[in-house]
Amino acid sequence: MLIEKLNWRYATKKMDPSKTVSEDKVERILEAARLAPTSSGLQPFEVIVVTNPEVRAKIQEIAWNQAQVTEGSHLLVFAAWDNYTADRINMMFDLVNEERGFTNEGWENYRQMLLNTYVPRDAETNYQHAARQAYIAFGIALAAAAFEGVDSTPMEGFDADKLDEILGLRAKGLRSVTILPLGYRDEANDWLASLKKVRRPRDQFVIEVK
Ligand SMILES: Cc1cc2nc3c(=O)[nH]c(=O)nc-3n(C[C@H](O)[C@H](O)[C@H](O)COP(=O)(O)O)c2cc1C
Repeated sequence: MLIEKLNWRYATKKMDPSKTVSEDKVERILEAARLAPTSSGLQPFEVIVVTNPEVRAKIQEIAWNQAQVTEGSHLLVFAAWDNYTADRINMMFDLVNEERGFTNEGWENYRQMLLNTYVPRDAETNYQHAARQAYIAFGIALAAAAFEGVDSTPMEGFDADKLDEILGLRAKGLRSVTILPLGYRDEANDWLASLKKVRRPRDQFVIEVK
């Protein structure tokens, strides 16, 4: 059950560096992220999978020295488009037409509306919108990892400009948003492993309008 898995997972602070997440599990976590819904279906982000130990050591330095970056076996970096361009929007609309094998006037009008709205807008606003889409995939990847029995740590605690530099993301038109180390908890040495999960109770979280 999903709820059981979500109770099992926690933002792991200490991972066991001797354990490696299998490639089939990593692939399913990536596939879950790829299947994430996004605004207008634009998928305005990419996921970088970093396994290289030297690169991850460099990333740890600019990520508040958080050890999970190197003690996990894989590091997922969610990186959003730095802007919406006509090429990027057209690429996704063309792909939909190609995959579905037909064009549709309503869809083409919608394409024009997005081109007219997003392309003239400033890059920062567009990046922020793209980053919000990346968060959806990040959340789904987190849940997928739990579903696979894989530990992870959602992280915003890193210097995004420096990470962009280490991975050469700006040259690809991308900006890092969040990172997600994947690995296995070191239960005996993780101070958080045995602590109760704390959330506000339902009545302080859900507002019902009946
Ligand atoms: C977007 C985001 C960024 C986070 N950044 C960090 C981080 O940099 N380092 C860390 O140890 N935990 C980080 N966390 C973990 C949260 O502190 C944690 O999810 C929250 O306290 C709830 O605990 P739980 O995930 O263990 O249930 C982050 C979580 C989210 C969703």
